[in-house]
Amino acid sequence: MLKNESLKIGRNEPCPCGSGKKYKKCCMNADTPKPVDVAALYARKYDIHLKSPEQVAGMRKTGRLVLETIDLLETHIRPGVTTNELNDLAHQLAMDHGAIPAPLNYRGFPKSICTSVNEVICHGIPDDTPLKDGDIINVDITHILDGYYADASKTFFVGRPSADAEKIVRVAAQCLKEAMTMLAPGNTIGDIGWAIQTYALSQGCSVVREFVGHGIGREFHEPPQVPHFGKKGDGITLVPGMVFTVEPMINLGRAELFIAKDNWTAITRDRSLSAQFEQTFLITEDGYESLTPFEL
Ligand code: MF3
Ligand code: CO
Ligand code: CO
Repeated sequence: MLKNESLKIGRNEPCPCGSGKKYKKCCMNADTPKPVDVAALYARKYDIHLKSPEQVAGMRKTGRLVLETIDLLETHIRPGVTTNELNDLAHQLAMDHGAIPAPLNYRGFPKSICTSVNEVICHGIPDDTPLKDGDIINVDITHILDGYYADASKTFFVGRPSADAEKIVRVAAQCLKEAMTMLAPGNTIGDIGWAIQTYALSQGCSVVREFVGHGIGREFHEPPQVPHFGKKGDGITLVPGMVFTVEPMINLGRAELFIAKDNWTAITRDRSLSAQFEQTFLITEDGYESLTPFEL
């Protein structure tokens, strides 16, 4: 089932069967190679730590709180509301449930959630600017509950959307759906990016390259990186127990971006609209489970 690079083992590397011997001294030339210890191989080769059922249960619980937070914010999103107000609602809900909002003080990030409006691609910092009729806003929520992270985001309309707003939000949502069709053991990280890129480009939109999905667990960002572009069959093979986000950022215009003076806010260089949807996924024996499931 492993393919391409996930199968490449150097002759002097530890044998993938987990014997502790060099590959060349063990299964490399054996008539009947022993089964591969995938968990040990992925830990050593990629620093990817497959999650136990207990760890998944923890992340599932955090995921439910993340979705509850997004649902709460949705009920408050309307013209006149400030992103600081949304931040404070999310922060309070996390606190009320004994959770920690992961962005707060993460690498110096000053707030508890990311709020990315219109041409802001991601990592928008909540402030006192009121939302306006016709805006789009992505709210990106990551909480830590009992040490386990879960990460999800959605883009919403503020009041009545323009045709451009409707288009970019529809395309971004469909990009995540396309990605989900690739989430199964035996497929690769490259298949995910390929599916997203193919759909986005078919709609005349572009894919942001500077920010990627990521492994997640007891840390916010773990290996592997999950680019939202790529070639079919490239990269690491998906195996059961992997947990990572997919979070395509899709621009109505060109893909290029710049970072604002606050060192966080990523903005489309051509100031075109950008939308994003994100979920945290577990690869299972026969496909995937979203740990932050919502309708797209
Ligand atoms: N939640 C974002 C992600 O999807 C990361 C935000 S980092 C922060 O990976 F510091 F800006 F919060
Ligand atoms: Co993420
Ligand atoms: Co996120």
